[in-house]
Parts: sequence; structure tokens; C-alpha cells
Amino acid sequence: MARLVVVSNRVSIPDRGTRAGGLEVAIKAALKHQDGLWFGWSGRVDGRGQPKIIEGNNLSYVTVDLSRDDHQEFYNGFANRVLWPIFHYRLDLAEFTRRDLGGYMRVNEYYAGHLERLLRPDDIIWVHDYHLIPLAKALRDRGHKNRIGFFLHIPCPPPEILTALPNHEQLVPALGAYDLVGFQTKVDAANFTRYLTEECGLARYSDDTFIFGERTVRVGAFPVGVETEAFARLARRSIESPFVREVLESLSGRAMVIGVDRLDYTKGLPQRMDAFERFLNNYSDWRGKVTYLQITPRSRTGIPEYADIGRLTGEAVSRINGTFGEASWTPLRYINKAHSRTALAGLYRAARAALVTPLRDGMNLVAKEYVAAQDPADPGVLVLSRFAGAAHECADALLVNPYDPEGVANAINRALSMPLEERVRRYARMFKVLSQNDLTHWAQRFAAALQEPSDGLSGRLRAAMSR
Ligand code: F6P
Repeated sequence: MARLVVVSNRVSIPDRGTRAGGLEVAIKAALKHQDGLWFGWSGRVDGRGQPKIIEGNNLSYVTVDLSRDDHQEFYNGFANRVLWPIFHYRLDLAEFTRRDLGGYMRVNEYYAGHLERLLRPDDIIWVHDYHLIPLAKALRDRGHKNRIGFFLHIPCPPPEILTALPNHEQLVPALGAYDLVGFQTKVDAANFTRYLTEECGLARYSDDTFIFGERTVRVGAFPVGVETEAFARLARRSIESPFVREVLESLSGRAMVIGVDRLDYTKGLPQRMDAFERFLNNYSDWRGKVTYLQITPRSRTGIPEYADIGRLTGEAVSRINGTFGEASWTPLRYINKAHSRTALAGLYRAARAALVTPLRDGMNLVAKEYVAAQDPADPGVLVLSRFAGAAHECADALLVNPYDPEGVANAINRALSMPLEERVRRYARMFKVLSQNDLTHWAQRFAAALQEPSDGLSGRLRAAMSR
């Protein structure tokens, strides 16, 4: 069986106290029953050096360090101040410089240079996310003919937005060096195929396959899942843990509403807090009877826009607690400490409602894990942004527009007042969908599609083109 080589900027090295972002959780599960190699950044910025190799659980983890300039230009610069905002439809926040683009290309070449020494001709290579768009091209330029797939964890905007990316003509078509390009939703995949036809003028070989010079590239939607059944078991155990019991006791019988997000402007935190404020204003009966727990670990702290969103969110929290709080009741508990998956699973199960209201999100696994964690006999209610990829599979959540605080306030009231029978019905339908498309299924579907032999420019195609 061919070896699976996974490449992502973040690598979840065992025993390193995982940060467990969505991407790391997904890849860990994809590699669970597989011999393979996981290559990426070590997380260190002390200067480039030789790769470090750690062996564990059938896997080799190979990581390389970055220099300070690499980190600034590649990670803080082009990846997270240009690609991240633009792919999340936030053209207003993009800060493009040619220097950062140069750093981005340079780090992709650096990764390719180290990776090629590790590759065997029959390895299947699976590259993850926006940090590594040009990686396949860098490998092809070095003569590698392996099957290479790419999965974008974040949204893919339509060409009207993608074309605002300076130098998009060089960068986006580099995805044509992959054999398979996967997206979270059909909408993302359709946006990309529109880019290929309208901007690159590419011809279709079939419905989902495009002709790229001498090669073909297949485009598809592969919505990333969660470990639905395992997470449900974890939540059942965790709700009995001393930690979750202590949190529940501290609520003194009040209903808990939960939000869990990295501190990021795409998550719509100030808007969500405005909505909670309106809820307390408009549905005053709930005052003193509900506590909103928002867990928000800090993220990408070297980037100015992240400091801004931290300040705005903190201001909203103190305004709400100052206005509505009582000596005996704090309406909103805001915590920047990261919590373990186990702790979160228990908190999700204990929460009567979850607020997952990003302004734009590739998928959002918190939404799926919240559903997975519920007690089937007495489930809580998911309030979910229609702009999260998860909304495609979680149609039985209360879908909201995060830009409409009044509408979100109404949804919070509806969630907390929803009769048991309706909660059970909505939960059961979503749980079924999430069990069918769980993380293992996602990884298997992508890996199988990547290994499907493509004709390349087969005789049939050559004949068609020469006619
Ligand atoms: O795809 C976006 C993503 O990789 C998430 O999966 C993850 O939680 C987050 O970004 C982590 O970002 P960073 O690696 O910049 O900390």
C-alpha cells in the first residue's frame, strides 16, 4: 500500500500538548490507521536548520524551523494578512506587500526542498491549506510525478473577490499542479471552478475535471467531519468530571449558553455579543437566568488586526457585564484560556445552547462537536451562522445571519425556549448526518479520490484535442 505523506504548516507532534485547531484534529484522525509521514513547521522561529524527525504511532513527524523573516513574511504576512482575510471575504483587512509574497514563495520552496529528500516515487501526497498553495508546483518543478492532492480548510470566495488578490494570476493557477483540489462545500468548489473557467479560460475534461496544459486537475467538495461517535462518548464521560461539575455548580441552576472560538475577526465575536446584549434587552425575563460562557484562546498575536479584535471583544464584554450584571450574576464569562477537548466536550453537553456565528468560516468543527456532544434525550440547540460551511450539513440548527443582531437575539430566545420534542427532532437529524460523514469518512473519501487513476492527457483526450 502506498505511503501517505501529509504536509501542513502546523504539525501536531505527539506529547507536545496539542493546540488542537481544526486542521490538526482532522489530520490526526486521517493518519490514525495509516503508515505515513507528516511534514511541516516545527513552530520555532530561531532560524533554519536541519529537519527534526520524531517517530511515533506508525508515523514519522518531520518538522523544520523558520527564520524570523520567514515567519514574519510567510506566516504573519502573506498567509495571514493577505490570503486569510481575502479568502474570508474581508478585502478591507488585506495588507499586501511584494516582500511578503516573496517570503511566502520562498518558504514553499524551502519546504519543497526538504520534502523532496524524503519522498518515494509511489508516495501519495496530501497538502493542506492556504499556506501551501504553490507546494505542488515547487515539487513538480523538481521532477516529482507523485499523486498530489490539496485540501483548503478555509472558504474559497468567488472570482470577483479572488481577483482582488494582487498577483492572483501567478498564485491561484498554481493549484493546477495538483491532481485533486478539495474544498469544504460545493459553493467553495463552484467558486473555484468559475475562477478556472472565467479567469484562466480552462476547458473542462468532464464535469469536475479541467485540462491544465499536459495534465488534468479534479475539483470536488469534501466537507470535513468530526469523530461523531467518539466525541459523543467523550462528552458522556466528561460531563461527570470534577471540572464540569464545578462549572455547573457555579451556575447555580442557570441555563448555560456556550461559544468557543479562536480570537479571530472572522468569528464575529463583537457582533455576537451585540446580539446577546439585545437578547438581554428584548427578553428581560431571561436576565439572571442565563449565563453565556465564551471561551476564546488568543491566536496570531503578532498581527495587528488580531490585537484590534481582542480590544473590541473585551470592550463588548465589559459593557454587557457593566450594564446587566448583578452582584450575584455575571451575564457573560469571557475566558482566553484554551481548554482541552475533554473539558469542551463536557461543557458542550452541559450547555442549553451554543452560539456559532462566524461572519465566514470554512466549516467550523465546534458546531459539529456541539451536536455530537448532546444528550439524545435532552439535547441543547445549535444557533449557527448561515455563513459557516457546517450550515450545509446542519440545516436543523437555528440558522442565523451574524450581521443581524436582532435576528440572532431572537434565535437565542427561541433556542432557550424550544420544546423538548423539537430539540430531539432537530438533534437526531443532525446527528445522523454527522455520523454518516464523520472524520474517518472524510479522510477516506479524499484519499480514495486522490488515488483514483486519472487519465492525465490520455490517448482519448489527445485524440479529442487534435480533432
Ligand atoms: O484552516 C484554518 C486553521 O488551520 C484551523 O484549522 C486552525 O484552527 C487555525 O487555522 C489555526 O491557525 P494557526 O495555525 O495560524 O494558529
